This record gives sequence, structure tokens and C-alpha cells, in this order.
Amino acid sequence: MRVNLGQNAQLAPPLRTKNMEGAVDIPARVNGSNDSLPKPHIKPDEYAAMHKRSLEQSDEFWRETANKMLAWDVPFKTVQHGSFDEGNIAYFLEGHLNASYNAVDRWAIRDPNQIAIIWEADEPGEDTKITYGELLRRVCQVAGTLRSLGVKKGDLVIIYLPMIPEAAIAMLACARIGAVHSVVFAGFSADSLRDRVQDSSARVVITSDEGKRGGRTIAAKSIVDAALKECPGVEHVLVVKRTGAEDVPWVSGRDMWLEEKMKEQRAYIPPVLMSSEDPLFVLYTSGSTGRPKGIVHTTAGYILCAALTVKDVFDVHAGDKFGCMADIGWITGHTYIVYGPLVLGTTTLIFESTPMYPNPSRYWDVVDKHGLTQFYTAPTSIRLLRRMGTEHVASYKLDTLRVLGTVGEPINPEAWQWYNDNVGRGQCAIVDTYWMTEGGAHMITSLPGAIRAKPGSATVPFWGIEPVILDPHTGKELHDADAEGALVIRKPWPSVARTIMHDQARFMDTYMRAYPGYFFTGDSAARDKDGYIWIKGRVDDVINVSGHRLSTAEIESALGGHPGVAEAAVVGAPDEVTGQSITAFLALKPDYVYESGEALVKELTIQVRRAIGPFATPKRIICVEDLPKTRSGKIVRRVLRKIVCNEADQLGDLSSVSDPSIVDHLKEKYAEATK
Ligand code: WTA
Repeated sequence: MRVNLGQNAQLAPPLRTKNMEGAVDIPARVNGSNDSLPKPHIKPDEYAAMHKRSLEQSDEFWRETANKMLAWDVPFKTVQHGSFDEGNIAYFLEGHLNASYNAVDRWAIRDPNQIAIIWEADEPGEDTKITYGELLRRVCQVAGTLRSLGVKKGDLVIIYLPMIPEAAIAMLACARIGAVHSVVFAGFSADSLRDRVQDSSARVVITSDEGKRGGRTIAAKSIVDAALKECPGVEHVLVVKRTGAEDVPWVSGRDMWLEEKMKEQRAYIPPVLMSSEDPLFVLYTSGSTGRPKGIVHTTAGYILCAALTVKDVFDVHAGDKFGCMADIGWITGHTYIVYGPLVLGTTTLIFESTPMYPNPSRYWDVVDKHGLTQFYTAPTSIRLLRRMGTEHVASYKLDTLRVLGTVGEPINPEAWQWYNDNVGRGQCAIVDTYWMTEGGAHMITSLPGAIRAKPGSATVPFWGIEPVILDPHTGKELHDADAEGALVIRKPWPSVARTIMHDQARFMDTYMRAYPGYFFTGDSAARDKDGYIWIKGRVDDVINVSGHRLSTAEIESALGGHPGVAEAAVVGAPDEVTGQSITAFLALKPDYVYESGEALVKELTIQVRRAIGPFATPKRIICVEDLPKTRSGKIVRRVLRKIVCNEADQLGDLSSVSDPSIVDHLKEKYAEATK
């Protein structure tokens, strides 16, 4: 199945840039025509040659880029080693560097007064700014604190924090002393946090007294305490004071206020020398089974692609203010709030609130107040704000913006148009960025000054990425224009994940062996006659709700924990605002007695919220007599998917379903539930 790169690279249709149907012209603020604005880093005629070089002379390409963009303590000699087949990818092998030095020290030394972080707190008006000089001091003091607790190179630290600067500071402090951070999204429940702490064997957890979001208070410390009841390995909990709440639950000897400990620490400690391939962080993500995967990213390749994509995909220039609205607990927050912008030495925003608080103008208020030049969010937020009405955006200037980004799911053309007209005012580039936790940084995306967007398409591959579309059944490469199939990547790139923590075998099975020799993205995609890529969505048992990646198996296992549930099957239904929504079909135990259907659904909802977190709450829970099954008892989810997608007339061959008469019952129940 392995194929020679050079030959096959030419088989895909060449990228067309002229006379394209449906393509939008490169807009005014990024096309270089306005002398008061910066010229784009990548010009229209440069993309094709640069992309070709990044594939065909990849060693030279990455050698130059890594030397230009990163500060090395010990230079690397070998650019790349290993293959997908062997699962031993490594980049910049002999090199040594430190991610926190690259993200903080370089810029603090150059200009300590430059703003590194703008923190926009939940309550409007409570924003603060942190300079690179101040960031360096705080990173050093947290690093010193961790070290004083015995944290050493290679140890894992769990970070469970709301969207406050300390989240970024804690990540960089770990990186400074070579500790591996694992940020757990603060929307996860105590049970989910417990599973991740246990899997990671962490001894130290960093959290806060409480969190604030959309005017509500989140009891972060209490959630940590509940989680840690079953984690005897955790020796220390460092607590950031966010709200100053009284009566924060406290375990003496284990818990300490981070601020107090920081006061004992020197304001400068030297960064530890790290190999390019030392792990930088672990981030858990959902896969096809109920068990989350700890995706491991290493140091040099990851920070390189993070910074390079911020520069080229968002066309960031000196003086820009970069605003990514994601949560730090997901990969988008890691790459585009923390590492990308800071390794590039730009100003980044940390936004604690929601697009709706205190009203649906919050994003635009933030853009105008801080003069953001790039704005990055998920299609689900755009759809939500579109639904609220243009009056919430119309009175804002938004004239500092040049590039608008989207991520997390395909954007529907209507939402794209709304974003373009009402936020970009027709003058900003829109970059639809396709990538995933395992990819580390953008993989398929348009480039502001070089690639014309087509609403709904992620457009073209980034440097070093060679997307290939395979026939999902035969695994054969599809080279025609208008091909559709499984999306794989042919060759390694610097920021691709290196392993799953404690589970290299699962790593190989999931990504490298699905289609041997390639990296499997988990998505299907089509390529049009112009060579543009259109992402169709996940082909595994992962669903995407408001850009949150959820495993159906994880939700099923949460529901299965309820005493009344015999079996559960979860599928994603199309949803106008959230992209997909969770629909759960349940068969109850025959002798289970319950008070009312309503009360049962409530209990089941609590069950999921407790096991995973509020963001995994099913939109619909439908109790049915039985689930569609094969004769050997395997649930046929395809039938359920067709029903929730209103395609029940296209069920196809039902011969594998042991009792086809169940289908009518399921249809009826679904119709009832959605009436
Ligand atoms: C989906 C988020 C279409 C895709 C960065 C992928 C997208 C999954 C896009 C990864 C996009 C992400 N267009 N689909 N621009 N971006 N996806 O790991 O299905 O949370 O596999 O990373 O989101 O989700 P994850």
C-alpha cells in the first residue's frame, strides 16, 4: 500500500486559482492594496511553489523554517526520521530548546513592556494586560513553585483551570522545567477529571477556588476535591484565587494557595534544556471507544507549526492582537491562545466569558475595545449570533479586523456569508481551518493573501501536508477531480502527535493501521475539480457538538451506568446551531419500575452530566422497546443515524437486522420525540 511520494503527488488534480466557480476574491484588507496595512506574508502566486517545495524538499523546507522561527540552545542536524508505518516519527532530532524560552524569554528580553496577554474577564470592564516581562516573572515563579514540590523533568501536572491567565502561565511553567502538562477542560465533571488524573499518574494538580463564566460561578475546587477522593497519588493541589470565595474546601497538607507559594520563589529561573522530541503536553480527546486517549505532543515540531500557522494562516504581523475564543482545555486553546501566538511574539487574548454574556454583542465589544486584528471562533457561535440578529453587531466598528477564522466543524455557507458580511464587512479574509487534536496545528486551510476562499470548503493543504482521498472500502487512492472518501495524510509533518500515553498499540491501530502507511484523520472529505478539499465529517463514532468532540461510546457507557438501562445507543442528529446534537436511544430493563418518563429522563441527564460534563447533555433521550441489532447482538447504529437524519426512507438493506419490524417502532418513537 506504500506508494512513492514523488509520482503520486502529481496524480492529484493541480490546484486551479483562476476561473473558479464559487470562489471569493481576496478581500481588501489582506490583498496588499492598502498601503496603511501590512502586505500579506504569502502572495497569490507563491502558494503552489511553496507547497510543492514543502513536500518535495521537505527537509530543506523544515530546516530553514525551524532555524528561522525557533531559538535553539543546541542546533539540530537531522530534520526528520521515522514513518507512519513504523510509528516512530521524530523531528529535529539532535536539537535542544525550551518551549517557554521560545514563547516568553525571547520577547521579554527584546521588549519587556510589550503586551503578551490581554485578559478579558467574565464581567465586561474587568480586563487586564500582562506584559512579556511580567509573564516571564510569573512563569518563573510558578515553575519554581512546582520545582519546590518536587516536580521534575518528565513528571506530569494536571491543570484544571477556568479561562484566566494562570492557565497559560501554568502551562508555560511546566514547559520551563520540563514537566508535561495535561490541561483538563474545566467543563469536565469530577468523574472525568478523576479518570484523567488516574490515567496520567499526576502528583500535582493546579486549579482555582472558583471559575466565572457567563455570570455564573463554577466550583472548580470542589470538583477537584470530589475527583481526587479516588486519586491517592496526588500529593499537592495548587489553588489560584479567582473569585476569593470564602469557605473554599481545604485539605490541609495537600492544598496551598499558588500566590502564597509564588512569593517564596525567585523571579527568574533558567529554562531546562529539552530535546526536540521530549513531550510538551498530553491532551485527552475522545475516540471510538469509551476510554479517552491521552494524545502526546512533543516540543519542537509542535511549537514550530503552532507559530508558523499563526503567521501564515492568520497573516499575523508586528503589533497585531490575536483573539482566539476557544477554551484552553481543547487543542485550539493550546495552539492558538498559548503556544502559537506567544512563540511568534504576538499579543494574545484570553477570554473568560461567552458570546452571549451579558448580551449577544460581547464578542464585538471585545474586538473594538482591544482592537483585535484576528478573530477565531467556531461555526456554532457564528450560527448562534446570526440567529440573534444583525442588530447586535451592526453598531460596532470592527475596522481593526483583517482575518476571521473558523474551526471545529464544517461551516455552512449561510453562516459563512453572515460572518463575512456582518463581521468582516466584506473586507476580511475568512480562513476555514481544518485540523484536529492529533494534528497539532492547521492542516487544510486557506491563506489570507494567497488562496481565494470558497464558502464551506477548508480549501488547500498547509505546508508539508499532502491530503489523499481513499476509497473507504478498498483503501485505493482516488485521484479524480470530484473524488470523495476517507481523508488520510501521506507523509509525516512536524506537529503530528507522537503517541497515545501508555498506549502506543492503540495509537498505531487508530491512526496508522486503519489505512496502512498513511495517517488517518477520522474524517471523510471530497476534492473538487479545482483541487479544493471539502470536509464531510467524522466517519468513526465521534460526534461533534458545538465543536466539542464527543465519543458516542463514552456517552453510552455513562447512560449504561443507570440502574434502569439495559442498553444504550447514541447517535449525532443534525442541529441548526450546534452542528450535531446528541440523541440517545435506550432500551430499559424489562422489570425496571420508574415513576414517570420525565423523572427518568432527568435522572439519565444527570447521569451523563456527572460522568462527563454538562456539554455532553443529550438533547433527546428516547426510550424504545429494543434497539436494532444483528443476529449476533451488535447494535446497528446505521439505522438510528438514518432515522435521526430524516432519511428513514433510505434505510437500504435491512437483512442484517434480526427483527426488521423494530424499525417502524423506532421511527414512531423518534417522530413522537421530535413533534
Ligand atoms: C472537525 C479541533 C470541518 C473534524 C481543532 C476533525 C472540522 C475534528 C474543521 C477534530 C473544519 C475541525 N471543517 N471539520 N474547519 N476543524 N473539524 O480534535 O471532524 O477537537 O476531525 O480538534 O473536528 O476535533 P478536535
